[in-house]
Amino acid sequence: MKILAPSILSADFTKLGEEVRNTELGGADWIHCDIMDGIFVPNISYGPMVVNAVNTVTNIPLDVHLMIKNPDALIPEFLKAGADYITVHFEEVIHLHRTINFIQSNKVKAGAAINPGVNVENLFSISEFCDLILIMSVNPGFGGQTFIQNTYKRIEKLANFRESNNLNFLIEVDGGVGKNNIKNLSDAGCDIFVAGASIFKGGNVINNTIELKSLIK
Ligand code: DX5
Ligand code: ZN
Repeated sequence: MKILAPSILSADFTKLGEEVRNTELGGADWIHCDIMDGIFVPNISYGPMVVNAVNTVTNIPLDVHLMIKNPDALIPEFLKAGADYITVHFEEVIHLHRTINFIQSNKVKAGAAINPGVNVENLFSISEFCDLILIMSVNPGFGGQTFIQNTYKRIEKLANFRESNNLNFLIEVDGGVGKNNIKNLSDAGCDIFVAGASIFKGGNVINNTIELKSLIK
């Protein structure tokens, strides 16, 4: 099963509900919500209130990506806001197993993410407890950035580890994903594709979503 998760960071926030509905019309499987605090990443995006608002206009799963300092403190707010997946960054959580466990104890799926400068091997031991592993293919903080090419190798390494250890976490790629690389990413072993600018910046949101979805079928 291949999953397309539009990132609303690049959406037109003056009509966010319409943008979300249009991605659904285009076949989006999840909605990716990028939470940024201006400390862990050099940008501030939005919080639980917006996730809650998005939750009122769609029934598809909300994939919440916490790019914040001390995520443990705010996870309860995102649970209340209706998150279906909550992903925290390896670089930011001291007791990662406890955090993953806490998220899942609240009947929400849990993921661990790493930035482009961090070896994927760092997530090997926690991966057996995770529902997904998120590989950043840009430096986090902004939409519309250039895809980092060594991501393919990182995904292949993670996919090989998953297979040789008979594990079943999903692999998510996030940043600079578009029609020129999504098929190769799928072939490298990716399951979930986050796409922001390639869906919301330029052209028609529904058609952009349909096109990306068709490339990962
Ligand atoms: C970046 C975010 C990504 C970003 C993806 O820090 O984690 O989800 O919004 O946007 P594009 O697809 O525009 O790179
Ligand atoms: Zn993200």
